[in-house]
Amino acid sequence: MTTHHRSASEWQRRGAFYQIYPRSFADADGDGIGDIAGIRARLDHIASLGVDGIWINPWYASPMRDGGYDVTDHRAIHPDLGTIDDARALFDDANQLGLRVLVDLVPNHTSDEHPWFVSALQAGPGSPEGTRYHFRRGRGSSGELPPSNWQSAFGGPAWTAVGDGEWYLHLFDASQPDLNWADPTLEQEFASIVRFWIELGASGFRVDAVQGLSKDSSYPDWTESGPAHTVEGTDVHPYRDRTANHEIVRSWRRTLGEHADGDVALIGEVVVRPWERLADYLADDEFHQVFNFDFLECPWDPGQLRSRIAAALDAATSRGALPTWVWSNHDIVRAATRFGLPMDVDPAQWLLDGDRALLDPQRGLLRARAAALLAMALPGSYFLYQGEELGLPEVHDLPLHCLLDPIFERSGRASKGRDGCRVPLPWTRCGRSFGFGPGGAWLPQPSGWGRHSVEAQHGDPSSTLELFRRSLALRSELLDHDDFEWIEFPGAIAFERREVVSITNFSPGTIELPAGDLLVASEPCTDGTLPPDVTAWLRTS
Ligand code: GLC
Repeated sequence: MTTHHRSASEWQRRGAFYQIYPRSFADADGDGIGDIAGIRARLDHIASLGVDGIWINPWYASPMRDGGYDVTDHRAIHPDLGTIDDARALFDDANQLGLRVLVDLVPNHTSDEHPWFVSALQAGPGSPEGTRYHFRRGRGSSGELPPSNWQSAFGGPAWTAVGDGEWYLHLFDASQPDLNWADPTLEQEFASIVRFWIELGASGFRVDAVQGLSKDSSYPDWTESGPAHTVEGTDVHPYRDRTANHEIVRSWRRTLGEHADGDVALIGEVVVRPWERLADYLADDEFHQVFNFDFLECPWDPGQLRSRIAAALDAATSRGALPTWVWSNHDIVRAATRFGLPMDVDPAQWLLDGDRALLDPQRGLLRARAAALLAMALPGSYFLYQGEELGLPEVHDLPLHCLLDPIFERSGRASKGRDGCRVPLPWTRCGRSFGFGPGGAWLPQPSGWGRHSVEAQHGDPSSTLELFRRSLALRSELLDHDDFEWIEFPGAIAFERREVVSITNFSPGTIELPAGDLLVASEPCTDGTLPPDVTAWLRTS
């Protein structure tokens, strides 16, 4: 059991975090839906990994049109998952084990069933309630056309009509109306929400969809062929990376500053490129860290990986921060499947109608294990998504009628969406839901899911679970500093972190390991050689 406690600034910069998708982690009451009691009952598993904290995807009251990113009450837990008392108890239990808990803050939109939106619809255009959202008269003689050509990130138009020629904006699903951050009441509302969770015991926030918070209030048409992003100092894009976003982020950081000696983390999901623009969100009075999508989406290619690692390190350290390293989350095809597909295949597209023979699951797992060690060895924080420590693959054959992700319908069924990485975890080899809970599972688990289970892997030194435990323990013991130096090594990505060398073999043949004692490797290394698609850590002194 882990007992290490990093200091305030260290845990935000260099911690390892376990991401929980609460509906799919563990189900205590047997209704087939994971819950807070399930998380509390399985905290020992997370602690056994030696991580510093947990990030929990939205667990708030919600009609669940977008996996809980459609919130109706930011201060209430969804009844399927538990109560506020359960949340408080989870914070306490986790803290006892040395684990900090980050909650998800969703400021870009609410559910269309949120009382704010319901009253905005009732009060009508021009009312104070209405200015909390983006209502706009449509084009055409009677407003029958959308106010602009903006597209939802999930497919289809970003505007939905409410009658009488009025429309509202939603950059995601139609059930997720965008909030209008030009309305000053929002800043106070969210400050109060942030205080609420800190007082209950949260140690920080992962903040959702920050890139789109501020909008051009004239809502001009936009085609992505223009300059892709806002140019320094000028707001070119009408709803991405606008200068006003920074003022909003600063307002949350000010609220954090009122509490616990600044020991509360603020981590942004800010989908902005290039890094020079993203790094602005790491200013001293903004986020402690931002997610690194260039890395997350990088194919298994040493040239691209190396340049993306270098760019992230340069940009983040220029602001006194460190990057985050993430290979999987609740929005992307799991790494063990992505890395098993040829590089020219788009994993999300393959899920829908790709040739299943293109998938090499053994190679995918081999590379996912090597990739995990590579990411863990880099300076910064490391996030792993539940099941990654089991080497779980994407469930690519979910029947279409089971799909719940709004992307499936909004894309005109051209994308299968993200349900395949959200299938409930297997804890035991057998049983109705492989130990997920005493009942079934809200998304079907494939037959044979139990062979990936914690029970099947615990104590087996060759398992992915034991590899994660070993390497995360070494990470917190030996890599808790910022030093980093590239090592030139043909066919490999190699670097030195004080006395530890990490080396990943991207070439088709074995390569000779550098001098040093082998600390851990993602596969056995014999006779001083490193097989293809394997990472090893060595101690050089
Ligand atoms: C973020 C979340 C994703 C969600 C979207 C809208 O990208 O990670 O799951 O669908 O925001 O809230």
